[in-house]
Amino acid sequence: MEVVVCKSKEEASALAAEIITKAVKKNPKTVLGLATGSTPVLMYDAMAKAVKAKKVSYKEVKSWNLDEYVGLAPTHEQSYRYFMNENLFKKIDIKLSNTHVLNGLAKNPEAECKKYERDIKKAGGIDIQVLGIGSDGHIAFNEPGTSLKSRTSVVYLTPSTIKDNARLFFKGKEKEVPTRALSMGVGTICEAKKIVLLAFGKNKADAVKGMVEGGVSQFCTASALQMHNDAWIFCDEEAASKLKLKDYYAWRSATKLQG
Ligand code: PGA
Repeated sequence: MEVVVCKSKEEASALAAEIITKAVKKNPKTVLGLATGSTPVLMYDAMAKAVKAKKVSYKEVKSWNLDEYVGLAPTHEQSYRYFMNENLFKKIDIKLSNTHVLNGLAKNPEAECKKYERDIKKAGGIDIQVLGIGSDGHIAFNEPGTSLKSRTSVVYLTPSTIKDNARLFFKGKEKEVPTRALSMGVGTICEAKKIVLLAFGKNKADAVKGMVEGGVSQFCTASALQMHNDAWIFCDEEAASKLKLKDYYAWRSATKLQG
């Protein structure tokens, strides 16, 4: 696990976007795993800037998103499909038919999840998986107590995640946040060839500490990334503030990024 400690979320987002831009330039058929939430927005803006500047094209890129709320239509303003269309897909030249988000209205959610896994495999697996981290240490919607080998499935949100998401996206109305979601599993995520996780703000400091320096545990599902051999964590100073070896990680990752 490489922890890149940046002065600001802007700097971290630009560095993470650069990794994706470079990968897509090298392999125009890159398969991306994408995330929603407030965290990746600046990175998506930086990716869009690179497309506008004609530095890169997403015409042949395929994407699979991490999760979707059960019960929300793709046109619902709080759905993750809507979020992706607005925050990234409309701003880059990716074909909408090449973008995949789990269907929160699927009549048979289990079958939907199984098909998602099959489709990712058929595409050759995910080359780069973008992640945020929940304040409770979740990745995608894999809450504490989820098996670290879990596959894409129907999952149940914790009260703390419902609270976080209500504050950020549902105008504070907790009752409007769906309590279930379809989510890629921890096992699914860990199969991605490369991981790019972003974490900003002091609200994420405990989760980052658990992920990087805690034991590997289903209590902090992000800690499973300790077992991944190409996982990059881009943090701002606040999110990294509780790390014991913060300065060492910062030096090591900066040296590796330069080389
Ligand atoms: P956030 O969510 O980016 O809105 O903080 C992250 C997550 O829950 O994974």
